[in-house]
Amino acid sequence: MIDRIAEILKQVNDVVFEKENNAESFRLLYLSKKGIITQLFDKFKTIPNDQKKLVGAQLNVLKQRAEEIHQQQKELEDNSIQANLKREDSSLPVYQEGPGSYHPLRIVEDRLLEIFFSLGFDLAEGPEIEDDKHNFASLNFAEDHPARDMQDTFFIAEHVLRTHTSSVQIREMEKGKLPLRLVMPGRVYRNEAVSARSNCFFHQIEGLYIDKGVSFADLKQTLYYFVQQFFGEGTKVRFRSSYFPFTEPSAEMDIWAGLETEENRRLTKGTGWLEVLGCGMVHPNVLDACHIDSSEYTGFAFGMGIDRITMLKYGINDIRDLFVNDKRLLSQFSGV
Ligand code: PHE
Repeated sequence: MIDRIAEILKQVNDVVFEKENNAESFRLLYLSKKGIITQLFDKFKTIPNDQKKLVGAQLNVLKQRAEEIHQQQKELEDNSIQANLKREDSSLPVYQEGPGSYHPLRIVEDRLLEIFFSLGFDLAEGPEIEDDKHNFASLNFAEDHPARDMQDTFFIAEHVLRTHTSSVQIREMEKGKLPLRLVMPGRVYRNEAVSARSNCFFHQIEGLYIDKGVSFADLKQTLYYFVQQFFGEGTKVRFRSSYFPFTEPSAEMDIWAGLETEENRRLTKGTGWLEVLGCGMVHPNVLDACHIDSSEYTGFAFGMGIDRITMLKYGINDIRDLFVNDKRLLSQFSGV
């Protein structure tokens, strides 16, 4: 019996595990109910008592060793199963994150700001949820003035989602520090049906310059400079008179896109001119509402839609394309 035990011990020690799932066949062969070692224990019961001490000790050594080897092999196999699972998880497609890119609106906004910063304008921002005072009243929209209907408004209880960034003009003028030379970018909201051409939210950049002796000539020169920088040297510009409650006189500025291509004829509705922004001299009532002495100070303001300019720059025909967050689309745009 001692010899048999020694023989099995050697066998157990010499086992070479070649493939996975060997721990289980090892257990079946040696340690299961009908395994070799279990059988040796059965046989152990039948041997003479005086041999029991020695044989029992050997048998225990064998069993312990076999259990040890089984445990080690089992751990090895478990680890490699885990590793395989990690390596080839077939339940999900691999999602490979490439480097990100700037959103086209961000690219255009950055460029617009850069141009105005180079003229000495500073950055200011205001809240998207506004009160009537900043979005309308202080901007010279009278209580029942039909001009309030020019911009379909989203209401939140007593507040509004700002319909334009002109509200930030008021917030900055109220601070009481002059002169002011600011560009104010941000998101604005209008209660309009969503289509290829209009969205219920979009983005504007507001400009404001208030000082002693600011004239309409300053406004035109500033905008000429902006157009040459952004749309290219020699871009033709025209001003059409217009109406906004908060500027007087008011104008809209167009740039010449031409009538050469089908696309240009469509975009300009056959005129060749593209509307780019609204502007004007800050209305004295607005200065008064912000406690600025309108006999001493004058100023100009302008506001343009970033989305519209972005669509023009990149030839995007549907404003909704800007907000689907499709990375394949977004990654196509580079600096302007
Ligand atoms: N707030 C106007 C709009 O949203 C644009 C504008 C800004 C006009 C500043 C004049 C001066 O249409």
